[in-house]
Amino acid sequence: MSALLELHDIHTAYGLSRVLFGISLEVASGECVCLLGRNGVGKTTTMRSIMGLTRPSTGRVLWKTRDIAGWAPHRIARAGIGFVPEDRRVFAELTVWENLDVAEKASGRTGAWTIPRVYEIFPKLRELADRQAGFLSGGEQQMLTIGRTLMCNPELLLLDEPSEGLAPIVVDRLLEQVDELKRQGLTILLAEQGVDFSLRLADRVYVLEKGAVRHSGPAAELREDSSLRQRLLAL
Ligand SMILES: Nc1ncnc2c1ncn2[C@@H]1O[C@H](COP(=O)(O)OP(=O)(O)OP(=O)(O)O)[C@@H](O)[C@H]1O
Ligand SMILES: [Mg+2]
Repeated sequence: MSALLELHDIHTAYGLSRVLFGISLEVASGECVCLLGRNGVGKTTTMRSIMGLTRPSTGRVLWKTRDIAGWAPHRIARAGIGFVPEDRRVFAELTVWENLDVAEKASGRTGAWTIPRVYEIFPKLRELADRQAGFLSGGEQQMLTIGRTLMCNPELLLLDEPSEGLAPIVVDRLLEQVDELKRQGLTILLAEQGVDFSLRLADRVYVLEKGAVRHSGPAAELREDSSLRQRLLAL
């Protein structure tokens, strides 16, 4: 297994408030890895630490064996890591098509992703191409946010709680779409509270608790062992 991304003993704080206490993990090429855990355990902070949005105080973030801790976020994005934040950032005044077009122009990375290819994954976005993004539903905005990140041609996609706040039927569709991205070979690091969503997609999981890794292993183990699931996640 060749690791694309490796975190070694990451500690991250917001000012004096310490949040991550030695997170180590790895993501191999082609894998879908899930950070699973409840509210406030440090999933988003782990992603922000990878992206350089909140700089770890100690620890190493290796991207293809190079230490990128301390790099500026745009440089990390250019190196091939795409971040889909939990707050679904789109340009509300621009149309769906313009949002995708702008993302491509801003990325500075060329590759296989085009607007038609994004529409193939998310057909709904084709229907809504001329609609202002501010008028989209939560699920549609989530698709657009993912589409915008794909237009930057990432090798690794960080997906922060994509299912949060969406209706079950919308979540089901999103799950199929993310699964299709995985089948097409994209490497994914997913943060989720939703056990069903994450265990249906993930190859491996890291269960976080209070800013540390409580458990790591194959997703299948958690899928099959309800008592382990219960113990780790109290669900
Ligand atoms: N900007 C910030 N300043 C100070 N503390 C923060 C900040 N962002 C998050 N925290 C704190 O850090 C801890 C971890 O938060 P984080 O957002 O990483 O958790 P999370 O697992 O993503 O949670 P959620 O499931 O709610 O998204 C929480 O206690 C939170 O209150
Ligand atoms: Mg979060």
